Amino acid sequence: MRRTPAALVRAEPQPAHTIEFDGRPVPALPGQSIAAALWAEGILAWRTTRVGGRPRGAFCGIGVCFDCLATVNGRPNQRTCLLPAGPGDTVTTQEGHGRADLAV
Ligand code: FES
Repeated sequence: MRRTPAALVRAEPQPAHTIEFDGRPVPALPGQSIAAALWAEGILAWRTTRVGGRPRGAFCGIGVCFDCLATVNGRPNQRTCLLPAGPGDTVTTQEGHGRADLAV
């Protein structure tokens, strides 16, 4: 057995699947967070601020800063750094407060 990080923890990687971001397919690995999947695809912002409409994406990556909020499967204000990417999940850019009627 090779001494790789995956081998050391006896991980059994599964095939990639796909989530959707603003209508665009994004590959994701089982167990990968939505934020990590978006980053891996080169997507760095998926929310705009209430004041000024400035772009935001993941900042802390551990569920503390709330910068990574997005609308996931129709539910606004989801912290994408904490949510595992599930097959077929739909992620949309969130504007402002993230109320469903304001979500893009
Ligand atoms: S990146 Fe800070 S809460 Fe998600």
